[in-house]
Amino acid sequence: MTEQVQKPFLYVVVCAAGIAADVGELITAAQERDWEVGVIATPVAANGFFDTAAVAARTGRPIRSAWRTPGEPRPFPPPDAVVVAPATFNTVNKWAAGLADTLAVATLCEAYGLGVPIAVLPCVADALAAHPAYQDSLIRLRGMGVRFAPPFAGGPGAEFGWEQALDLLGR
Ligand SMILES: Cc1cc2nc3c(=O)[nH]c(=O)nc-3n(C[C@H](O)[C@H](O)[C@H](O)COP(=O)(O)O)c2cc1C
Repeated sequence: MTEQVQKPFLYVVVCAAGIAADVGELITAAQERDWEVGVIATPVAANGFFDTAAVAARTGRPIRSAWRTPGEPRPFPPPDAVVVAPATFNTVNKWAAGLADTLAVATLCEAYGLGVPIAVLPCVADALAAHPAYQDSLIRLRGMGVRFAPPFAGGPGAEFGWEQALDLLGR
């Protein structure tokens, strides 16, 4: 009898930035690196920022965006690692402040306590990134061990670099 080897489980947290439309690239790359993937989207992201049906089909699991009811079983196993991509100004600031008002941010807040690696691909315009609250959030989250990719420059032809998130996890 052959022993079934369980793949490590990666949570991909998707926020409401325009680039989220391409998040399928990250999911495919993660699966190629042998991660099992479950997607948790912010409510805004889940409402039109990416093709939720295609992503659910790709992962073989429903997209999570709202809390389960108390009687429901946990839809995903606990995470072995978490990626936030794209990460918005709003979610980064709420996460750093511990304001767990969406399942996505609550999951991020909890991931720190679980001690799993967390990688972030921020997608924040320079004008927003200049806000002191955002700079404070980055300092706080980096101090918690969260791994950040460099800021996304944007502009025509710029590649978002989805695989950086997986590189930051060290797989
Ligand atoms: C088309 C569109 C593109 C957006 N792109 C970004 C973005 O790249 N980065 C960002 O921080 N916010 C962006 N926003 C604003 C966010 O969607 C907004 O702040 C939202 O409240 C973020 O919610 P979330 O962090 O819960 O996903 C965009 C909004 C729209 C309508």
